[in-house]
Amino acid sequence: MLNLAVIGGDGTGPEVVAEGLKVLEAVSKTIGFEVRIAHFNVSGDRYLERGGDPERPSIDVISDEELDELKTFDAIFLGAVGHPDIAPGILEKGLLLKARFYLDQYINLRPVKLYPGVWTPLKDKNPEDIDFVVVRENTEGIYTGMGGVQYPDTPAEVSTQVNCTTAFGAERAIRYAFEYARRTGRQRVTLVHKTNVLTFAGGTWYRNFMRIGEEYPEIEKDYNHVDACCMWFVKNPEYYDVLVTDNIFGDIITDLAAMVQGGLGVAAGGNINPSGVSMFEPMGGSAPKYTGKDVINPVATIASLAMLLRETGNNKGEEMYIQAGDAVEEAIMKVTPTMESMSAGRMGMSCSDVGDAVAAAV
Ligand code: IPM
Ligand code: MN
Repeated sequence: MLNLAVIGGDGTGPEVVAEGLKVLEAVSKTIGFEVRIAHFNVSGDRYLERGGDPERPSIDVISDEELDELKTFDAIFLGAVGHPDIAPGILEKGLLLKARFYLDQYINLRPVKLYPGVWTPLKDKNPEDIDFVVVRENTEGIYTGMGGVQYPDTPAEVSTQVNCTTAFGAERAIRYAFEYARRTGRQRVTLVHKTNVLTFAGGTWYRNFMRIGEEYPEIEKDYNHVDACCMWFVKNPEYYDVLVTDNIFGDIITDLAAMVQGGLGVAAGGNINPSGVSMFEPMGGSAPKYTGKDVINPVATIASLAMLLRETGNNKGEEMYIQAGDAVEEAIMKVTPTMESMSAGRMGMSCSDVGDAVAAAV
């Protein structure tokens, strides 16, 4: 029995999640497992209905009690957060970042794969060339909120935003990357940082990477500065296999990587706690202006579902969920060549058509 918590969220989130659940129903029948789904109404709309201040955080977007309840599920499937009437930061901090920290989802796993038939802005690059995975540290770095601002709105204003890097945090991300490479038969792990300037935090990453890497003699180890990595994503993405990096660098390079793989309509991700509950979500946002129009590409959400199934299978040691995840990804790859373009409203298919097609292919 797969016990799934679902947060549709805002804007087009619930629409794309519905397509994911359609595919889940199909694959659970094909493979033969039961699914129990609990919908959690956590959204910007609920925040406003409960009297949340649209300009500054006032009440919980998601409460500790709700997060404790989420811990009892096998996985969380999230659509999108983001509301046009709520100031930036409130929902992001109040839901996404809070869940990542509270549930200790210390890995943000972002596969970058060009599916067949999907347009990439990189000239002459094919699906064989674009197939790598970014392991982003997800609970430290400049995301912890350490620091502050003194004398705001005066000429003496001073702000600090601390890059909190621990050996513990770097080590568990690095180990995850090497273990992932070993498990999936990938050959190389590249550490991405900025050790030429961030000598302290970069040093922690680099020394731990080299030390831990010795335990994986069959895997090639490499290091790139983050700025150079951005160039090479565009110039020779085929070089990359598994990358491991800190929180903010991972945030930035995975948006670039998402474009390389055809855009946010196809980019999937998972916030992973390998020994707890993980949360899977498409990288794209809530796209409020498209709400209810049935035009958003659900491939990213369905690919996130494939990740959810595989990771849950790995966690619980349940082979059938891994098979289900593989079946969903294969079905996606049967459907993408029949789609015209991957951008919203120009797919040659509606959001629900794509869900139907992938479910049928499963
Ligand atoms: C992401 C997003 C978030 C992040 C924002 C919404 C807080 O950009 O998941 O990459 O920076 O991690
Ligand atoms: Mn981001």
